[in-house]
Amino acid sequence: MRSVIDITDLTVSEIDSLMATASDIIARPDDYAEACRRKKLATLFFEPSTRTRLSFEAAMYELGGHVISVAGSDSSSAAKGESVADTARTVSTYADIIAIRHPKEGAALVAAQKATVPVINAGDGGHCHPTQTLADLLTIKREKGGFDGLTVGLCGDLKFGRTVHSLINALTRYGGLRFVLISPEELKLPGYVKKEALKNKGVPYEQTTDLASVMPDLDILYMTRVQRERFFNEEDYLRLKDTYILTPEKMKLAKKDMCVMHPLPRVNEISVAVDEDPRACYFKQVENGKYMRMALILMLLKEAGRI
Ligand code: NCD
Repeated sequence: MRSVIDITDLTVSEIDSLMATASDIIARPDDYAEACRRKKLATLFFEPSTRTRLSFEAAMYELGGHVISVAGSDSSSAAKGESVADTARTVSTYADIIAIRHPKEGAALVAAQKATVPVINAGDGGHCHPTQTLADLLTIKREKGGFDGLTVGLCGDLKFGRTVHSLINALTRYGGLRFVLISPEELKLPGYVKKEALKNKGVPYEQTTDLASVMPDLDILYMTRVQRERFFNEEDYLRLKDTYILTPEKMKLAKKDMCVMHPLPRVNEISVAVDEDPRACYFKQVENGKYMRMALILMLLKEAGRI
């Protein structure tokens, strides 16, 4: 049974075809309105979420399917000590496909090993978040026309920010890109991500703590929230949380067509005054996320022989 736990579970040509399907859904939504009729998506969210859970659910409704859902570990048998493996096996008997978010790295993989229906990782701890990456890729493609030759700045919490880990792994498979990693010393990209995605593939990158000095070079600036929930102590969080704040003033240093992205939720790292700038693309990412999740649900249900 095929699941999507990591973005590398999808080949580049599968990602391209998901983007093509998403574009077709945008152009002809009515053609897809019954595609998943009578099928059920289970959303199991053991960590807070607004966009990811609701966009999965909206995606399934727009495909004509149904949704059953657990939101928060307090209200499910996880609170009684049930394992992720048992939950996944149980839910497989009710649903045709599962989207799971969990605070522990590797939880989605465990769920996929026990489930008898496709499982989609909707975020596992500080590890990865492949469907956010699908949203990000479609956004870059729609805004920039493609990936070749782009200089991508990733800024903020590169250590715990799972969306960054997945995005970098996806983009480096397209080739022709350059990365600028902007973070405080304590929140640098983990060694394993740097090695697999950048060093082993000879992808050009630089690391800096100074956002302003690299702004003029960037085609994409991907801002991230400092991941409070992954810190061991609150003092470190408070010290680091406002290291980078993107303001209209700083935007003056950027290219006229630079895209500002952010997986959201934003805390302080992008001033609301930037929202009016035509280069702000973060709410477009939200919308693209729903279409890419529709495309992914369709692909996995077809492969599983359920539609
Ligand atoms: C992200 C996540 O959950 O990792 N949110 C999202 O799904 N769009 C980013 C974050 O929480 O900072």
